[in-house]
Amino acid sequence: MGDLNGPPFFDVVFAQRAHREFADTPIDDAVVETILRAGTHAPSAENKQPWEFVVVRDPATHAAIHDLTEAAWNASGRAFSETRLPPELLKEVDQGIAGGGYRTAPVLVVVCADFTRGLPMTAGSSIFPCVQNMLLAAGALGLGSALTTLGAVAPGPLAELLGLPDHVVPQAIVPLGYPARRLGPPRREAVAAHTHRDRFASPW
Ligand SMILES: Cc1cc2nc3c(=O)[nH]c(=O)nc-3n(C[C@H](O)[C@H](O)[C@H](O)COP(=O)(O)O)c2cc1C
Repeated sequence: MGDLNGPPFFDVVFAQRAHREFADTPIDDAVVETILRAGTHAPSAENKQPWEFVVVRDPATHAAIHDLTEAAWNASGRAFSETRLPPELLKEVDQGIAGGGYRTAPVLVVVCADFTRGLPMTAGSSIFPCVQNMLLAAGALGLGSALTTLGAVAPGPLAELLGLPDHVVPQAIVPLGYPARRLGPPRREAVAAHTHRDRFASPW
């Protein structure tokens, strides 16, 4: 297991950002395992723990996953996002995918749901708390990460590439690596703007 003496919890939470470019510093398996262990401590419906992780380091598989993601972005993802994302975020995602930023991640974790463990309708709501724990654990260990789904939106080609059985379906791809640069603070709206006291009509 990696060094577990991380920074204070709220320092990690309030600095959490999507990293889309990484240094070429390698990551030990022990560090990856700590991140996955944090993932497995998330809640899951009926405690069925439906996660399956495929940790990808193999250069050919790694490149093929990025190729799939980039093809999805170029085919329709970018056009769809163009009118939806603010220009700054579109540029960041573009740099991560078409600009090759995600290709610099030393490790990709494909987080999958095993649909034979638990109800299909709770698969996503069980997997994403796990992914969030992974992102926070990565931050606590000094690594950058991101929750990405584009490469898993049409899961067929990714499942084939990884040799997944039919009941194991990719939900997210999490690149892991030491950050190439320090990111600024997250852009978030104030809690009070979206919080209500007792009834929707009463502001916080
Ligand atoms: C469900 C979901 C899917 C996402 N998919 C992608 C993705 O495919 N590619 C990507 O670059 N970022 C993806 N993101 C990251 C978001 O763009 C990011 O969390 C958001 O813009 C906040 O930015 P920040 O983390 O820099 O504060 C995804 C986030 C979520 C929650």
